[in-house]
Amino acid sequence: MLKNKIITKQLSNKLGVSISNFDCSKEIKFDDIELLKKIMQDKHFICFKNQNLNGDSLAKFTKNFGDLEAYPEKDKTKGKIEIFNVSNVSEDGEHLSPDDQRVILQKNNSRWHTDSSYRYYPSIFSILYGQETLPHEAKGGQTEFSNMLLAYENLSDDKKQLLEPLHQVHSYNDIRRLEPGLPELTYEEKSNFPPVSHPVIRVHPDRNYKKSIYFTSNTSLEIGGMGLEEGKKLHGWLVDYISQDKFCYKHSWEKNDLIMWDNRVLLHRVIPYDYSKYRRAMIRGTVEGKVPVLGPFSNEVRLKA
Ligand code: OGA
Ligand code: MN
Repeated sequence: MLKNKIITKQLSNKLGVSISNFDCSKEIKFDDIELLKKIMQDKHFICFKNQNLNGDSLAKFTKNFGDLEAYPEKDKTKGKIEIFNVSNVSEDGEHLSPDDQRVILQKNNSRWHTDSSYRYYPSIFSILYGQETLPHEAKGGQTEFSNMLLAYENLSDDKKQLLEPLHQVHSYNDIRRLEPGLPELTYEEKSNFPPVSHPVIRVHPDRNYKKSIYFTSNTSLEIGGMGLEEGKKLHGWLVDYISQDKFCYKHSWEKNDLIMWDNRVLLHRVIPYDYSKYRRAMIRGTVEGKVPVLGPFSNEVRLKA
């Protein structure tokens, strides 16, 4: 497909294209930004091949799509707080031990999630650059994506009805419940990120009010109106359901890939790998959201019905 000279190649029939003739470190023309946004709207995922970026140029590229979101904890990244190190390698190049707190956070990324769901305004896009990737023969290390629009469409009517009124609690602090090795948050960090709840079925005003599933497994597992065990059981069911191949695309990394995904539509997770054997170093820019997640009963949605 040839559009504005940007050549896209479909990666799977569920989501995603790759683009191999585009330099993300350059100034990007308005028309190209609009085109990339359109591709994201239709395909939800772009892989730009063979990029050459650092924290500054990644931040600059990310800003083409909105404001940069900052990391929720003050001292985890030594560089820019808007560029997250998604890495088992320190900024000084040291391969970190698998029980280092920075690596524990990476392991938590292996639970299905969508970024910054613990914010009242969750992020729009995440943009992840692979500086050091695993050798091809290694097991794991891919990033897998599941398309929640497709997953919703394929639900039975009974399940749609069951999920429709539910809300999930999303709590940054509750990552500690799942990963007890992490240090306590400071009072200030906790106060900045109180638990929020979001509808489990979300509605997309920019997609003609289409619905999709919205849940995560990396923070709290509480579902409002359900007991904790009942909520966990539902999570388990949702995880099995959305993990089916028919909704998923697994990205096998090549060094210098830059991938970009829509957090409103896709869930993602890293496939665990041997953290002590392999180095994996990535940096991420995140486009801040400006609106809450709308549920089927929100005023805006009901007024349109
Ligand atoms: C992330 C994330 C997955 C990966 O950066 O938000 O979940 O494959 N990364 O590292
Ligand atoms: Mn993530």
